[in-house]
Amino acid sequence: MNQRERLRAALAALERDHLRRMRRDNERPCSPRVCIDGREFVAFCSNDYLGLAGEPELAEALAEGAHRWGVGSGASHIVSGHYTVQHELERRLANFVGRERALVFSTGFMANSGIVPALAGRGDAIFADKLNHASLIDGVLLSRAASHRYPHLDMAALASQLRASSAAVKLIVSDAVFSMDGDLAPLAELMALAERFDAWLLIDDAHGFGVLGPQGRGSLAAAGLPAAAREGWRLIQVGTLSKAAGVSGAFVAGEADVIEWLMQKTRSYIFTTGSPPALAHALLTSLDLIEAGDARRAHLAMLIARLGGGLAQKRWQLLPSRTPIQPLVIGDNAAALAVGEALMQAGLWVPAIRPPTVPAGSARLRISLSAAHTPTDVDRLVAALNRLEETW
Ligand SMILES: Cc1ncc(COP(=O)(O)O)c(C=O)c1O
Repeated sequence: MNQRERLRAALAALERDHLRRMRRDNERPCSPRVCIDGREFVAFCSNDYLGLAGEPELAEALAEGAHRWGVGSGASHIVSGHYTVQHELERRLANFVGRERALVFSTGFMANSGIVPALAGRGDAIFADKLNHASLIDGVLLSRAASHRYPHLDMAALASQLRASSAAVKLIVSDAVFSMDGDLAPLAELMALAERFDAWLLIDDAHGFGVLGPQGRGSLAAAGLPAAAREGWRLIQVGTLSKAAGVSGAFVAGEADVIEWLMQKTRSYIFTTGSPPALAHALLTSLDLIEAGDARRAHLAMLIARLGGGLAQKRWQLLPSRTPIQPLVIGDNAAALAVGEALMQAGLWVPAIRPPTVPAGSARLRISLSAAHTPTDVDRLVAALNRLEETW
């Protein structure tokens, strides 16, 4: 077999094992109301938790930003592709999450996969939750540091790995809200271990920023850490601007010297064209909407409670999640796919997530709620799932 034949056989194996990923082309802007091949669905798939991606005010801000700033940035941020509007966005973001400085990246994947190797390298040690996002996992691989993965949320295992390590530089990395389970990392315990074992702590709050904490300031603001820990050099936090913020990009925030170091050393920041300044212009409006978004967050909380209260959960169980990520565990791969397909027939789009993305035997529907959903949308989903569960 030559290389191409090998690749084609591998693609065929993906198809056979139902692991081939498919895209669906939506004919509408991002909102729960989607249209695929002329058919309408209510979608429970997006990370647009506050419903800002389709917000007219934000579209206006982006158009205004394009008129004011043009389209491209022209160069890397550290050459000539950095603009006052981006400086202002970083200042606002740092202030919003209560840190000295922030640095904006083009995507969350670039932020995470670049920051980890900027903090730890050969001879150092990284300690990572086993369910961390792929971007953090890739960052660990790129770093060439020794990798220690601890069982999900297992602080005792993390403590014993830290205790056994003699590395001079130690880095703990964790999602704040885990993207497939919707559960929360024990941030206070992670911080206490980082202090006890003199480690950096990198927290990826991709799914908490804009949703959790007062005015949506994120998981760390919600965790009630003492100010000294929240503001100290040891804690480095990432937030995405592509999920609740409804636009695109990400930021890292922390103590000024640490952010300066990351700007000097993060390859995915340095060796790429700066993000369009018009996006920063739009993101300033997005931040205003997040900050003033208590009504959106209250509506979202009501929808989460309505889903949990409505589902019969006789055989299919919701995982214990307080976030808009509400996974309903079906168990069997084929059953999860078939339930997803049956929902599609009913005009409801909920993605089925299977191993290897989630552990074997825990195939699930990843229900994702948004403030753009109506109570009626959730009631339709609840009724369809309860009916399917009854007759499955
Ligand atoms: C936990 C987590 N971190 C980082 C990312 C990457 O962010 P972005 O989509 O902005 O690249 C994602 C999802 O995409 C995520 O779920």
